[in-house]
Amino acid sequence: MAKSHHSLTIFFIFIVATTGNKHGYKKEKLSHFHLYWHDVASGKNPTSAKIVTVPSRNNSAAPFGTVFMNDNTLTEGSELSSKFIGRGQGLLASAAQNEIGLLMVMNFAFETGKYNGSTISILGRNTIFSKVREMPIVGGSELFRFARGYVQARTYKFDLLSGDATVEYDIYVMHF
Ligand SMILES: *[C@@H]1O[C@H](CO)[C@@H](O)[C@H](O)[C@H]1NC(C)=O
Ligand SMILES: *[C@@H]1O[C@H](CO)[C@@H](O)[C@H](O)[C@H]1NC(C)=O
Repeated sequence: MAKSHHSLTIFFIFIVATTGNKHGYKKEKLSHFHLYWHDVASGKNPTSAKIVTVPSRNNSAAPFGTVFMNDNTLTEGSELSSKFIGRGQGLLASAAQNEIGLLMVMNFAFETGKYNGSTISILGRNTIFSKVREMPIVGGSELFRFARGYVQARTYKFDLLSGDATVEYDIYVMHF
């Protein structure tokens, strides 16, 4: 009696597994992408806008409570004019009182090649003056459905005067 109950359970697990296959999901894989994220705060066509301004007590560029909205260009090379990959759209919010620690909530929307139309969602802590910032990938769409993983951000170029920055991203994402 107990034995047949056991095989019935296995049978149901088998049904669930084959139903999963019907949706077309194959083997989970790890992809690595390397790109540059251009935060343009100055000039005629900024891609970063300060949407919440807070009086600064420390001459800080991003005092606690400041929020930026970004629609940054993602490129293959370090120059803004290099091959376009997509857009980095989302929020950077100054969430730390005693240092520069930003809450980053951002979608990377791929707009070229195989991944055109697919997105990954990043949610993490970005201490922009640290050498390497690691932030989790919490999900994705289309080719990145069920995505999980992490990104590592490294500042490639930062102009204190204009606020413009180029950040190098290494993206490690598990997806199907
Ligand atoms: C800003 O000033 C306050 C008060 O003097 C200090 O406690 C805090 O550490 C300063 N923050 C930064 C980011 O320097
Ligand atoms: C990406 O997909 C959009 C929507 O389908 C399309 O309009 C666009 O031409 C595609 N871009 C590239 C570079 O393939």
